[in-house]
Amino acid sequence: MDIASRPSEPAENPKVADAAPPPQAPPSIRREDYLPPAWLVPEVALDFRLGLEETRVASRLSVRRNPEGNGTATLRLNGDQITPLTLRIDGQEVHDWRMDGPDLLVALPGEAHQVEIETCLNPGANSQLMGLYASNGMLCTQCEAEGFRRITFFPDRPDVLSTYTVRMRGDKAKFPILLANGNCTAQGEDADGTHWAEWHDPWPKPSYLFALVAGELVANHATFTTMTGRTVDLNIWVRPGDEDRTQHAMDSLIASMKWDEETFGREYDLDLFNIVAVSDFNMGAMENKGLNVFNTRYVLADPETATDADYDAVEGVIGHEYFHNWSGNRVTCRDWFQLSLKEGFTVLRDQLFSADMGSEAVKRIEDVRVLRIAQFPEDSGPLAHPIRPDSYQEISNFYTATVYNKGAEVIRMMRTMAGPERFRKGTDLYFDRHDGQAATCEDFVKAIEDGAGLDLRQFRLWYAQAGTPQVGVELEHKGTQAILRLTQSVPATPGQPEKQPMPIPLRLALYDRDRGEHSGEKLVVLDKDSDTFVFDGFARPPVLSINRGFSAPVAIRFPRDNADLVFLAAHDDDPFARYEAMQGLVVQHLVAAVSGQLDEATRAEARHAIGEAFAAIIADPALDDLMRGELMILPAETYLAEQLAVSDPGAIHAEREGLKRWLGRELAGPLRSLHDRAAAVAYARDAAARGARKIKTQALTLIAAGDPAEGARRAYAQYTAADNMTDRQGALMVLASLDAPEREEALADFHRRYEGNALVIDKWFSLQAGSFHPRVLEHIRALARHPDFTMGNPNRVRALYMAATANPDAFHHESGEGYRMIGELIRKLDPINAQTAARFVPALGRWRRIEPVRAAQMRAELERTAAVPDLSRDVREQVSKSLG
Ligand code: PHE
Ligand code: ZN
Repeated sequence: MDIASRPSEPAENPKVADAAPPPQAPPSIRREDYLPPAWLVPEVALDFRLGLEETRVASRLSVRRNPEGNGTATLRLNGDQITPLTLRIDGQEVHDWRMDGPDLLVALPGEAHQVEIETCLNPGANSQLMGLYASNGMLCTQCEAEGFRRITFFPDRPDVLSTYTVRMRGDKAKFPILLANGNCTAQGEDADGTHWAEWHDPWPKPSYLFALVAGELVANHATFTTMTGRTVDLNIWVRPGDEDRTQHAMDSLIASMKWDEETFGREYDLDLFNIVAVSDFNMGAMENKGLNVFNTRYVLADPETATDADYDAVEGVIGHEYFHNWSGNRVTCRDWFQLSLKEGFTVLRDQLFSADMGSEAVKRIEDVRVLRIAQFPEDSGPLAHPIRPDSYQEISNFYTATVYNKGAEVIRMMRTMAGPERFRKGTDLYFDRHDGQAATCEDFVKAIEDGAGLDLRQFRLWYAQAGTPQVGVELEHKGTQAILRLTQSVPATPGQPEKQPMPIPLRLALYDRDRGEHSGEKLVVLDKDSDTFVFDGFARPPVLSINRGFSAPVAIRFPRDNADLVFLAAHDDDPFARYEAMQGLVVQHLVAAVSGQLDEATRAEARHAIGEAFAAIIADPALDDLMRGELMILPAETYLAEQLAVSDPGAIHAEREGLKRWLGRELAGPLRSLHDRAAAVAYARDAAARGARKIKTQALTLIAAGDPAEGARRAYAQYTAADNMTDRQGALMVLASLDAPEREEALADFHRRYEGNALVIDKWFSLQAGSFHPRVLEHIRALARHPDFTMGNPNRVRALYMAATANPDAFHHESGEGYRMIGELIRKLDPINAQTAARFVPALGRWRRIEPVRAAQMRAELERTAAVPDLSRDVREQVSKSLG
């Protein structure tokens, strides 16, 4: 099929409905309404005539009636912002098709037909970055969840699996590299300066996994030999000039492939694996079969431009997308309500991978911190939804911390209850049973139940109920017995007023406070509203360590003595529990302080306990620096706010900063020695040197809080001496919050030094937008007018405005200026990139949990946004739910 020889399109197609504005309340799609597809598409052939301003697409679908469908003769092909130029059935042009909104409907008389459709696209004008779009002169696609329908008409749903053959032709000078899924089967060039390639993917896949890339790219190439001895070619494609920053990504890819063989028995199934880095991308990366497309920020890394955290993120996302080849691609989702089937499981897999590559303890602490900062607030707000939602208006809004991170926690609980070996039997059974299928969360649970030998009947509630369970703890000591009373309650969430108790696996230990030891960890499962567990053999009241390793994604309510927390912070042999004790000590104090419940004596006593614990951590020779750094991190303000029904972000910020100042002064000596010791460690990528860099900036932050002049001096010295981005960014972060002359100098130097490096300039924007400088709002306004700022690039938008939203001094400024700024951003960005715009709504949606003056200002911004007539479905859903 060669679209170049087609007759030209009709000027106007009368059957295409006028583009009507979306209705005020977009319809909800409901999980219980699922119906199998009426028609299947076993094979797809696509032919692209590529151009930046005009790309012609000719598709040929072999369609066949689904014996499990409802028997309708009507074939529904989804479309979005496209019109059919021609439509042929079995080779004959037909005219009796019609549009139903954006979809194309055509009646088919028989059991199987060939349907050919042509469409024409303008990738250069596609600012939504869904479907086929242009990025830096290159063409690429993004189809998850519903982007394929912006390329051609198709039953764009994940339970329609097809084998794809893709031909593409384009100008050889503009698009020297032509890539699609699977293997390249043929290529050639013509005298007119064009060339072409044909790709075939033997594995049936849903349309959301389709991908195509064309552009000027260079590859870092390597090979991998699989567990059965097959050789796989690996390429990481980047723009010329970036190839020196791809080695860490390649090492991570090879490590992922090996790890998945060893840990889950999963072997790669094609001879080629391509990764392409693009700088305009809505998300982190995409697992298209054999052709992963990545945001550059998760590919490019070298010591000069990437921090240690950036290195970890690259490793984690490379692993995540690679692991999707089995958890997502070989076994895919039946419908989008099952999104956590692939995402929750794949997040768990990438978490376990990163834990094995580095420090398991540190990784667990980081993952829990992300859950608490991003998922807990979601679960307690107007956008709360179960990990398997029951309805949605726009599926893009459900790529959430709940579906991803809580989804991973839910599967991790099954693993905790089964143990790793039995869990592996469950996942083996899952992959065996459902290979090649579009499965459901229920299929997954059933496979784990059967394979691991667990009874998960009640556990299924974790898929259905939203809200973070609150677990109340009481410990009584009587005679030689320790009596543990546990209660649970799952809070009401939108649409779910009543909840049932869920099985909550809690790893716990009881410490003898004299010996500083316990006699073995236990696993209790709380599966009722309340329950009592009795432990014998304690002459004195033991110290309880509970939810060790964060075995369940719940909030523990256990008011306790500072002395017990200090004990656990110093002695607990579970590193997470040790971190948790430290957090508890600080959370308990700061929550009391912002609630105004503190007299000076109590405040002094709590600060003293925290100071002692900090000093012990700084001095503890048994701790490695990476772990020491975790223990020194103060609880995030969003997490503190979670502890209160209604909070004053200004008060939380002031109290937390007050504690930092106090610690900086109280521990000035030890912190300076720590900073000096860390500064003497030379750059290396090993754990010891990374740990040194981590505590270096942490020490610096506290030093600067206690003594801004000393902080500025040390930060400037760290900045100028830096031979790596971790130190440089850390120093600049500290300077950015100080009203010191060194600040402007360092910021100007940073911009000059990294001009033209988009990922580093993103950091320059973020650091300033995230700073606690008194004039931060003014700075943000100025940055929005900076020549380097653009609304067209999601990384740049997020760099400036996500950092601003996370900054209490900016977003929650008492003038309401921060809320107005984010409201304006949402309204301005919505027509350009609705998906990215919608991601800013939840911050305003928190208004019910904020003190009344600010709450009214936040609500006003949501109302102002709701009043915009032609809002996208993405923003409309988030705003209406946030107000509702
Ligand atoms: N499926 C991708 C991932 O989690 C995320 C993604 C969703 C990317 C939608 C782009 C668009 O790996
Ligand atoms: Zn994913």
